[in-house]
This record gives sequence, structure tokens and C-alpha cells, in this order.
Amino acid sequence: MSQLLEKVDRKKLPRHIAIIMDGNGRWAKEQGHDRLFGHFHGVESVRNIVEGCAELGIEYLTLYAFSTENWDRPEYEVVGLMELLVNTIREEVENLHKNNIKLHVIGDMNMLPDYARKELDEALEFTKNNSGLNLIMALSYSGRWELLNAVKNIAYEVKQGRLNVEEIDQATLQHFLCTSNFPDPELMIRTSGEFRISNFLLYQLAYAELYFTNVRWPDFRKENLYEAIIDYQNRERRFGKTSEQIESVVE
Ligand code: IPE
Ligand code: IPE
Ligand code: MG
Repeated sequence: MSQLLEKVDRKKLPRHIAIIMDGNGRWAKEQGHDRLFGHFHGVESVRNIVEGCAELGIEYLTLYAFSTENWDRPEYEVVGLMELLVNTIREEVENLHKNNIKLHVIGDMNMLPDYARKELDEALEFTKNNSGLNLIMALSYSGRWELLNAVKNIAYEVKQGRLNVEEIDQATLQHFLCTSNFPDPELMIRTSGEFRISNFLLYQLAYAELYFTNVRWPDFRKENLYEAIIDYQNRERRFGKTSEQIESVVE
């Protein structure tokens, strides 16, 4: 067992880890390759981290794979990413199923090409009864898109007379988010040295611990994940309270 893994406190694991998988393009360019080469190698990291989370017994892993803003990238990159997505899902679905992993997707699926949506639907169906790690792929996703969508749907419920404005509370809003079935992430990791959220889970990250690393996504492996978890376990999560209040609960 790796030394880092031994330092992970199994009793204080986050239930939900969210990752902004960034740096594929730079990783490729640094090696004199095309950006798509980086995305291709990023899949290896996805495999490794999914396996690492499943081994630890993490319940939810959300991976930011493609933002609504990423549609504005050069066409060849968008097309290449879609093909990579479809091929990866096709190749990996058996393996996910064997490992009892349940696949979910969050995002604006209407934006996806038909062939990609079809492949995804099949994979969702195939793994729907699994009870191990919940792997949530954020695809064509952005926090602002999600919030706008929730507001529209709530307004529609009010208009239809199924919901009173006075009854709307935090729980209502959460119910209309794509993540209504998942707890909020306790730990958010972003790779490749960028210190921003880039429209990821804006509502859900309210009290997440943020962890940033310079490691580019295609180089990110289980050891890096353990480092992030150990760092998280050494934080004091106060949720607006004082340190003394938190300590008195722990003791
Ligand atoms: C993350 O890597 C993957 C996606 C956004 C699809 P990037 O493609 O953003 O890589 P960099 O940030 O340009 O290096
Ligand atoms: C965020 O990365 C989106 C994904 C990792 C899918 P970007 O590379 O698109 O973010 P910015 O443009 O650097 O903020
Ligand atoms: Mg990037």
C-alpha cells in the first residue's frame, strides 16, 4: 500500500468529490502535440481516479468534462472531444458495470449530437441498478445554465398552480437542480494551476473545500487524489460558526 494511502483517514472521507479536469491542452502542447492528444491521455487519468475513488469507498464523484462555454472552442476540438466521449463510454461501460459503478450525467443534453446522446442513454440504462460509486459526468454543463433552468422550471410550477411562491425554500431550489439526488461535494479539486470555478456547480460548492494543484490532468493519478483528500482532512470546516463551537462538537 502506498505511504500516502496509509495517511488517508478512512473515517473522515468526503462523500462527494468534484473535479475540474483541467490542463489537457497545455500538457499536449508542452510535448509538441495537438490539444486532442492531451484529451486522449486525460481518459487514462479518469480511469485511474474512478478506480481510486471506488477503492476508497467514495460515494459520489463528479467530473467536469465539458462546459457549456467549451462549445465555443474550435470545431475540430469540439468534434474530437465528442468522438472521444462516445468511444470512451462505449469501451468503458462494461468495466463500470463490473465494478458496480452507476453512471449519471448532468448538463444540457439537448446540445449534444444525437449519436453521443444515444450512447450516453445506453450507458445510463446499463448501469442504473448499480449500487457502488456514483460517477457523475458534467457534460455541456454550467452552473449558470443549471440555475437558469431551475428558475424557469420553478416559475412554470407556480404558473401551473402546483407551487406557492411562499412555499419556495432552499429545498425547492435544490429539487430543481440537476444534482437533486446527490449531496453537495465536500471537496473540489482543480488541476493545472488555475484558481477559478469556471461555472462549475456554483450552488453546490457553497461550502466545499477547494484544492488546487499544478499537476496537469493527464498526469493526475491516485497518489495526487490521496494528497488532496489528506489536505481536506486537515481543514476545519466551520460553516460560519466559530472554531470553538466546532471543537466542542468534536470532543
Ligand atoms: C480540460 O483541459 C478539458 C476540457 C476543458 C474539455 P483543457 O482543454 O481546458 O486544457 P488547457 O486548460 O487548455 O490546458
Ligand atoms: C473548465 O475548464 C471546464 C472543464 C474542465 C470541462 P476550462 O479550461 O474550460 O476553463 P477556463 O476557460 O480556463 O476557465
Ligand atoms: Mg482549460
